[in-house]
Formats: sequence, C-alpha cells, structure tokens
Amino acid sequence: MGAVWNVVKRVQSNVSLQGRCDADVAIVGGGITGTTLALLLAQAGQRVALLEAERIGCGATGHSTGNLYATVSLKLGTIRRKWGDEVTREVANARRTAVDFVQQTVDRFAIDCQLQRCPVHFALTGSDTALEQSLDYELETSRLAGLDAAKVDAIPGLSGLRRALRIEQQAQFNPLAFTLGVAQAAQQAGAQLFENSPVRDIDAGRGVLVTDGGEVHAGQIVHATHTPKGINLLQTAMEPYLEYGVAAVAAPGMLGPGIHWLLDASCSLRTYEASGQHWIVAVGGKHKTGEAPANGQTHQRLRELLTRHFNVSDFPYAWSAQQFHPADELPYIGGAGHANVYVATGFAADGLTWGPLAANIIADQLQGVASDWAERFAARRFTPAKSAGNWMKENIAVARHMVGDRLGIEKVATLEQVPAGAGRIVEYQGENVAVYNGAAGIQAVSPVCPHLKCLVQWNAADTTWDCPCHGSRFRPDGSVIEGPALLPLAPFGPS
Ligand code: FES
Repeated sequence: MGAVWNVVKRVQSNVSLQGRCDADVAIVGGGITGTTLALLLAQAGQRVALLEAERIGCGATGHSTGNLYATVSLKLGTIRRKWGDEVTREVANARRTAVDFVQQTVDRFAIDCQLQRCPVHFALTGSDTALEQSLDYELETSRLAGLDAAKVDAIPGLSGLRRALRIEQQAQFNPLAFTLGVAQAAQQAGAQLFENSPVRDIDAGRGVLVTDGGEVHAGQIVHATHTPKGINLLQTAMEPYLEYGVAAVAAPGMLGPGIHWLLDASCSLRTYEASGQHWIVAVGGKHKTGEAPANGQTHQRLRELLTRHFNVSDFPYAWSAQQFHPADELPYIGGAGHANVYVATGFAADGLTWGPLAANIIADQLQGVASDWAERFAARRFTPAKSAGNWMKENIAVARHMVGDRLGIEKVATLEQVPAGAGRIVEYQGENVAVYNGAAGIQAVSPVCPHLKCLVQWNAADTTWDCPCHGSRFRPDGSVIEGPALLPLAPFGPS
C-alpha cells in the first residue's frame, strides 16, 4: 500500500550505475539528506555521484511523517535534562534554521510539495500526573529555547482533549515531493544521480564504492543512509526502532492544521491535502526493531484509533519507518571512521529536519567552510557520561539477541509446516532457516544477518525479516530493504 506521499507523480527516472564514474564526492542514499547534499555540492561546482539503492526518496524519507519542527519528537526537555540550557537553545536554533532552509529551497526551486507553516501540539487526553508535569516542563523549556509556545485547551476537530502545549510556526509538507524536487534541482546543477544501484562494497582507503553494475571512484564518501552502511562503531551507539503510519480518506477540515502528538496514545496525527483530496494520517505503534508484535496488528491499531476519533472508514495507505535513537540524544553528523568518510545518522524520529541540517554541515565541511553547528553534532564526539545509560541498554539488548534468539528454535520435518501467511525461523535438516509461507509459496533464506551475524526476526505487519541488533531489514526473498547490511540474506537450499 505504501505511504500517502506516493500520490506525487515521479516525472523523472534515473539510470542505474554502469561502469566507472569519477567524482569528488560519492553520496550513498537518495533521501532528503543525500539529495540536499548533492544539490549544495553541485551548486558549489563539485562533481557529485549519488547512489540510491532503489528509487529517490523511497526509504525513510518517503515513509516519514512529513513534519518539520524546531523542537524534537521526544520533547526538548529530554535534551535539556541531559545537556543543559545552552545546548537546548542550540538544538532549537539549528533545527529552526533547517526548517527555514527547507522553506527557502521550496521557494527558490518552486517545488510543489504542499509546504505550509502550522503549529505543533503536544496533547493530553488523560489525567496522567507525570505526563502533565512533563508538559509543564516542556512549556518552560520551549520558551527558554526561544520557541513561541503556549498552553491551549482545544485543538479544532480533536475531541476529549484535556490540555496541550502549542508551538507556533513549524511546518508540514510532502517529503517525497520535496525530495524529488531537490533531486531534480541537483541534477540540473550537474550532480549525477543513480537509482537501483545498491552499494555492495566500500573501500574507503581507495575511495571506491562498488555496485552490481559499476564503481564510483571518489575523494570523499558520505553515508546519507539513515545509518552508515557496512560496519561503523556508531552502530553500537544507536537503538533501532520501527514506527507505523496509516492514512484515511477524510473530509476537509476534519482536524485542525498542524502536527498533533497525543502523548497518552504515543502517536501523532496530521492532515494532508493534495489535488483536492484530503487524508488524515496517524503515526505510532513504535517498538524496537526485531521485536514486532506477533499478531501483526500494528496498522490495525492505528486504524481503530482514527475510527474512534473521526468519521473515517477508507484507509488506502499503510507504511512503516525505522528510526535510530542516539545514545546521548543528539544526531551524529560529520567525519567518522576513515578520514574521507562522513555520516549523518542518529536522527531518531526527527530526520526531516536533521537531514537538511546535516546536508548543510557536511557541505560546509567538504568545502572547508566553518559551520555553526559542526562541533555540537560532531560524529566523533566522545560523551561517555551522557551516552553510557543508553549505550549499555542497547548493547545488553544486542548481546541478548545474539544468544537468546538462537535458543528454542522449533524443528520441522518440512518447510511447509510453517503455517500459511506466517514467517518463522525453524530448524530444518540441522540448519536454521527463515521461512515465509506466503502467496508466492515457501520462501526460505538464512536467518543470519550478513552485517554482524545476529538472527533476523519476523515482522508480520510488514512481512519483512528485521535484525534486532543494528536495524538491517530484508524482504522474504532476502533482499536488503535498509540498514547497515550490504548483502542480502543468503538463499537457503541447493545452490
Ligand atoms: Fe547488525 Fe544485523 S544489522 S547484525
């Protein structure tokens, strides 16, 4: 079904990489970060080659919420508690600058992505005292960070509201339409964009990136892939999560404009309008990657929530997106690992704003220009006091999956014992096999993630194999959807 953002028509198709391409900068990933960086560098006269594994904007960007804001989804108070007042102000300033940059880009290139300014609401419907206190703290923190924030007790169209925090002058758009527009502008500025070109190997020392059809030779390499491809130490400092979205056909004005986070229900609501059609969008159901509910009802829960609040019944869109939560709550942007390698990762659920900011920071760094924000978000920063708690939690979880997921695997005599419609890891003829019994029949692959050998887990809502360790995700045939894995799950059976 995909995300509602796919209502936009792709007018442009890019070739896959064939043969050798030489560039100053190779960018891996064609989402909002990669395309924005390609545009900035091409405008500055750099030779840019961008490699997208599938289609431009079809990854995390095209599965996002379409919301842009100077605050953060986990609330600025989370950052203030960990980093203090000054850094909180810096974060809000940096993110406000990024939202303004998106607006300027839309205006400059006349990108039709339905960008509009709107408020953000953090809303409470219940009487949870802890949530009420956190809302008070968030109001104080938002004002301290220079945001135009106030308490309100009504959101047009939303019943049952007790109280909410409202922050003015944030924004919404169609993230896919924006990214396609930026990609087109980048190409017109001279960037080379390659689609359907997954990177299979990266030799940072030689500056070579290998795809199925060719090679890019570049002086600098940027991972704009949500989490770096291949092995990178930062992967041990981030927790991968999945969140789900649905969109229902709606009547105009059913819900007031803006981004509405319902804190009690841990989900967000917004509306979207394009070409005279209206939808209402709910995003939520978050869980650690690789720990999806067995019943696969995650999208259904969101549909039920929308049905409870609004007179809707037609749900033409459903999707999911992965997030990578950084151990110290700030994203990792800039040089990491090898001297010519740059990353933009750890965006949590806020990547549509962090992405353009990261593109600006890295574009400055690659041109030797001082950046206001580079040091604050430096990927090489060392923050043990602020990272230790989440780092320990994540790496204990990884160790638990490494060992625990290999225990208690059911033995089967035939792969057909996996029920129709189900995905299971089973032991068959002495080997562990990831089996999906779908409409196309049995699909059997190795359950061992090619990244660092954890066992993948079945996600019934998305019909995917998801790795709980660092967020690689695979289709039932083993092909890579996203994450650090460069290679697919190995096929099972006679070769
Ligand atoms: Fe690292 Fe699977 S993503 S082991």
